[in-house]
Amino acid sequence: MLDSSVKPSSIVASLDQYVIGQDQAKKIVAVAVYSHYRKLARSEADQTRITKSNVLLIGSSGTGKTLLCDTLSRVLDVPFVTAEATSLAQTRYVNEEIEAILQRLLDKASGDVAKAQHGIVYIDEIDKLKSADAQPQSNSGESVQHALLKIMEGTGVKLGNARYIDTTNILFICGGAFVGLDEIMSQTHGYGLVSFSKEDNQKILDRLNSRVKPTDLFSFGLIPEFTGRLPIVAHFQDLSRKMLVRIMIEPKDSIYSQFREIFESEGTELTIEPMVFDQNAEIAYEYKTGARSLRGIVEELITPILFVVPDDPSIRKVRISSLFSAPTFVKEK
Ligand SMILES: Nc1ncnc2c1ncn2[C@@H]1O[C@H](COP(=O)(O)OP(=O)(O)OP(=O)(O)O)[C@@H](O)[C@H]1O
Ligand SMILES: [Mg+2]
Repeated sequence: MLDSSVKPSSIVASLDQYVIGQDQAKKIVAVAVYSHYRKLARSEADQTRITKSNVLLIGSSGTGKTLLCDTLSRVLDVPFVTAEATSLAQTRYVNEEIEAILQRLLDKASGDVAKAQHGIVYIDEIDKLKSADAQPQSNSGESVQHALLKIMEGTGVKLGNARYIDTTNILFICGGAFVGLDEIMSQTHGYGLVSFSKEDNQKILDRLNSRVKPTDLFSFGLIPEFTGRLPIVAHFQDLSRKMLVRIMIEPKDSIYSQFREIFESEGTELTIEPMVFDQNAEIAYEYKTGARSLRGIVEELITPILFVVPDDPSIRKVRISSLFSAPTFVKEK
C-alpha cells in the first residue's frame, strides 16, 4: 500500500522535479492515486468493494503524459507497469498479451500477489483503439477495448505459472493524444446557460466547455462502456516556447545537466548560453512534436564537440553561444 507519509502535495512535489508545467494534470493524478489508496485501506478495514476511479490522460504528443506516469511509478513505492494499447491491437492473442502485462506487474511486486493486486497499470496510446481502425490480421480496436474493460472492471486472470491475479483493486491510468478530439468538442459543446453575474457565467461556461464529455470520447471511437470506466480526465497543455526552454534546463535529469555531466567526466566544463535554448525551443515549437525534438537538436550540436574533446585533455572549457556559430574552446596553457 501507499506509504502513510505520501500526500497529494508530496506526489506533486516529486513530479515537479522531472515534469515541467502540467500543474493541473499533476494535481488530478496525485489526488486520484491518493484517494484510490485511501479507499483501498478503508475497504480492507470494513470488507467492502470499492468504486474505482480510473484516470484518462489526454494531451498532444510529446507533452509529458508518459513521462508523468514513468515518474509517478518511480516516486510511488507500488508495483507499476506500462503497456502500449497499440501492441494489444496488433496481436491476435489479446488475452495472452494482457496476461503478460499482469505477469510483469507481479514481477515488479517480486512475486507477491497481494502487492501486485494493489498496483497501477498505465496503458499508453489508448486513442489508437478507435473502433473504426480495424486492420486485417489483427484485433479490432473495439475488441481490445472489451478485453481491457474486463480487467479494469476487475476479474481473476490466470497467469502462466498457475497463479491467479485479481484485478479488482488495480488502478488503471490510460493515456492518449486523441488527435481530432478538439474538433469533436468544439462541435458538441456549446452550453448556452443560466445567468448569474456575467463573469461567473463565463467561468462556468469555460469550465464546462473544457471538460471532455463521455460522448466526445464516444464520437472519437471509444466504446461507451470504456469511457464510463475512466471518470477522471486530466488534460495536458500544449507546451509553450518558455516551457520548452525550461524542459531543457530544469528537470533533475535535464538534457543540459546530462551533457554537463558527460563533459565533466572528461574534465571539461560545458556552458550552453540561453540563446541556444531559445533557438532550439523555437525550432521544436515549429516541429509541433512537443518536447520530443529538443534532444535530437542538442545531440546534433554536441556530437562533433564530444568527438574531439576526449582526444584533447587540455580542453578545459567549451562554450556554445548560438546554434549557428562555432563553439569556443578554452585550453590549458
Ligand atoms: N512537461 C514536460 N516536462 C519535462 N519534459 C518533458 C515534458 N513533456 C515532454 N518532455 C520530454 O519529452 C519526451 C517525450 O514526452 P512523453 O513521452 O511524455 O510524451 P507523451 O505526452 O507521452 O507523447 P505521446 O502522446 O506521443 O506518447 C520526454 O521523454 C521528456 O524528455
Ligand atoms: Mg506517450
